[in-house]
Amino acid sequence: PPNLQLVEEDLGLERVNCRAKGASSGFKVAILGAAGGIGQPLAMLMKMNPLVSLLHLYDVVNAPGVTADISHMDTSAVVRGFLGQQQLEDALIGMDLVIIPAGVPRKPGMTRDDLFNINAGIVKTLCEAIAKCCPKAIVNIISNPVNSTVPIAAEVFKKAGVFDPKRVLGVTMLDVVRANTFVAEIMGLDPREVDVPVVGGHAGVTILPLLSQVKPSCSFTQKEIDYLTDRIQNGGTEVVEAKAGAGSATLSMAYAAVKFADACLRALRGDAAVVHCAYVASEVTELPFFASKVRLGRNGVEEIYPLGPLNEYERAGLEKAKKELAGSIQKGVSFVKK
Ligand code: NAD
Ligand code: LMR
Repeated sequence: PPNLQLVEEDLGLERVNCRAKGASSGFKVAILGAAGGIGQPLAMLMKMNPLVSLLHLYDVVNAPGVTADISHMDTSAVVRGFLGQQQLEDALIGMDLVIIPAGVPRKPGMTRDDLFNINAGIVKTLCEAIAKCCPKAIVNIISNPVNSTVPIAAEVFKKAGVFDPKRVLGVTMLDVVRANTFVAEIMGLDPREVDVPVVGGHAGVTILPLLSQVKPSCSFTQKEIDYLTDRIQNGGTEVVEAKAGAGSATLSMAYAAVKFADACLRALRGDAAVVHCAYVASEVTELPFFASKVRLGRNGVEEIYPLGPLNEYERAGLEKAKKELAGSIQKGVSFVKK
């Protein structure tokens, strides 16, 4: 594909890339792992987002192909591709938001934690580069196991002396998206009108839907609560099994990632009342990281909301969730400290 830089130099057309040089307003967003199952549809959807002026697509394979393809879309964001470790820093310089879906996905029979050995190192390396090149960027972490990769990112930033707990967010939006869908399905509602808070973390029992706080207010039978809790906690496994070895959720995840990234960008722009669940450094429980509703603003996480009143079922779920989360957090922290 033609290199825009060369086209510009050859033709002397300063204007070819003037928007990419910051002449237009809008945010600069990088996707790390942009050629993957999530990365590609995520890149496409971010190219369609009018808040994005510059979109950097980084991967260790196939970034030029994905970039050439997406750059032909007639939307305003300028797209640039970056291939391999030697181009990572260029991909990151000046970014406002960095989204990380890099890493291996599950196959049937695996837990998210089984991905730790490969993905922990990937996230560590990427975050070291973020700490160096764009330490003020908001970072959205998708790579699993999120319960450990977010603590890994935090430790890397601490080591580099640039950790800002407001700017590092684990993306749990897919749990909320699923919960909204499944609740809407059984209650006969439009999923767009349903809001289910999902707290805790992003794996099995650490995914804790608070069905007593669903909006609009719904009254569920115990059977419905058991069904919904189990389906929301195992939504990822449902997709992994259906894909039968070909990976995990990619399209619904790209949708959820864009919903969350768009919220981060609107908050950066100064919009008020941008509230979503995310897995962040938190004092909501005794654990150092926890997913709950947060208000996003110009600096990232501006406010973390308490869990609100829980019923007995949810209190029992919370205890189970915290037990597993504690181990996953410790594992992530030790990985960087060792
Ligand atoms: P995939 O294998 O299709 O794509 C991953 C991409 O990451 C590939 O293009 C690969 O080349 C790239 N990559 C590998 N090492 C890299 C590195 N060092 N730097 C940059 N890129 C690198 O996988 P996928 O289906 O897109 O899933 C990606 C990750 O997202 C997995 O860990 C998966 O478990 C996780 N995931 C999280 C959620 C969530 O809700 N948070 C949902 C779905 C998937
Ligand atoms: C999901 O919830 O779909 C992701 O975490 C991917 C997975 O492994 O289940």
